[in-house]
Amino acid sequence: MAVETYNTTSEHVGSFRRIVGNEFVFSDDESLSIYSHDETEHLHYLPDLVIKPRTAVEISEILKICNQFRIPVTPRGGGTGLSGGALPHLGGIVISTERMNDIISIDERNLQVITEPGVITEILQNAVKERGLFYPPDPSSRGSCFIGGNIAENSGGPKAVKYGVVKDYVLNLEVVLPTGEIIWTGSNVLKNSTGYNLTQLMVGSEGTLGIVTRIVLRLIPLPMYDLLMLVPFRSIEKASEAVSAIFRAGYTPSGLELIEIDALRIVATFVQSTAIPITDDTAAHLIIEVDGNHLDTLMLDMEAISELLAGYDCGEIYFADNAVQKAELWKLRRRVAEAVKIDGYTIEEDTVVPRAELPALIKGMKQLGIEYGFKAVCYGHAGDGNLHIRIKKEGTENSQDNPEMVVSLRALFKLVKSLGGTISGEHGIGLIQKNFMDVVFSQVQLDLMRGIKRLFDPNNILNAGKIFDLSKTTLQ
Ligand code: LAC
Ligand code: ZN
Repeated sequence: MAVETYNTTSEHVGSFRRIVGNEFVFSDDESLSIYSHDETEHLHYLPDLVIKPRTAVEISEILKICNQFRIPVTPRGGGTGLSGGALPHLGGIVISTERMNDIISIDERNLQVITEPGVITEILQNAVKERGLFYPPDPSSRGSCFIGGNIAENSGGPKAVKYGVVKDYVLNLEVVLPTGEIIWTGSNVLKNSTGYNLTQLMVGSEGTLGIVTRIVLRLIPLPMYDLLMLVPFRSIEKASEAVSAIFRAGYTPSGLELIEIDALRIVATFVQSTAIPITDDTAAHLIIEVDGNHLDTLMLDMEAISELLAGYDCGEIYFADNAVQKAELWKLRRRVAEAVKIDGYTIEEDTVVPRAELPALIKGMKQLGIEYGFKAVCYGHAGDGNLHIRIKKEGTENSQDNPEMVVSLRALFKLVKSLGGTISGEHGIGLIQKNFMDVVFSQVQLDLMRGIKRLFDPNNILNAGKIFDLSKTTLQ
């Protein structure tokens, strides 16, 4: 394997040290171990070297060497990914963007921000907030994920239901290509009909086409108010039916999240919170947020939504009165993934269907659980039709590549496909879902993607084996 070739070549290591500085190349066991995993299941792959460059030019120099000597490169942001995008499964080097963490400028005239990729998403959000501006994409891991990783995965989060996902905010990107060239993908403009959209091609490409080194994002004015309510339901199907009814009635909440009761039980214990009462007759909760600049209108909207929900057999609605209560509810929601993983639900799915098909997805998924003997808890962005399904099966290894689980997951993904959906809404395909791509894409579609990969990365050095295996192509 290429790994051994260069692992023993101190010449390459010496070159990397000259490029970034001695102190930013790591080969000690502890560093390698930290960069051997992200948040995906319990997967670990040791890289041979971790490099922490500061500039695009340094990355370019590193990639030129890797390209020449076919050294596998895994780009890495905050390491919070759930599909294995940052796992160095071929060994080789990890390039961490953590030192590239400057917010370069906030343009209040044009409502734009220029940032480096290693900025933590929440820090970026707070920095623009101080200027009365809003960058909505808001993954649960916002306190530790990097904006560069969010670009790579086209992340979403709870606000996507009203404000869209990362792709809706990216205007322009500086990218180092696997061959070392540095390009900008577009212009800092709100409309752009000039040739192929390279910016959007990069967004969601999971670090397989280039390493993003500068990011231009569009911002919007910060809404002045938000209101939040928590609604218990006796049946999860009813809760999911209520979701699309809210939009059909003319409301677009700024958050519309679902938490199944088992997930809530686990996370409430995990964070030691009693903020949400857990009763035997509750099957799921919806968390509903509305935001805007006119408090009166928001209150009327909340009232109207509450009345509508009464038709879906909901229990007593709880309105979060103040910032502390709101923060507590969001904390419970945001920490579900972490909590249920510790509880053994290590397989995380990121299914997404057209919103009105959510009840069919939930019903079908429960049925599959009975058929294939797995337990599932679901939660997530119900307003987007984006349901996170966490799965475990007693007595077997809970990993996506366990053949026993593969059968169940294929059945689940076929269900998703039959409902007009797809297998990832916001986490990406990475390493762990690539073997399911054939459920949603034909050979022709996959070959187009492989063709694009070859064009950008002729030697297949950059995050190789993520999204798909290049070797399976039918292209010559
Ligand atoms: C969430 C992450 C797992 O929604 O996407 O919590
Ligand atoms: Zn999510």
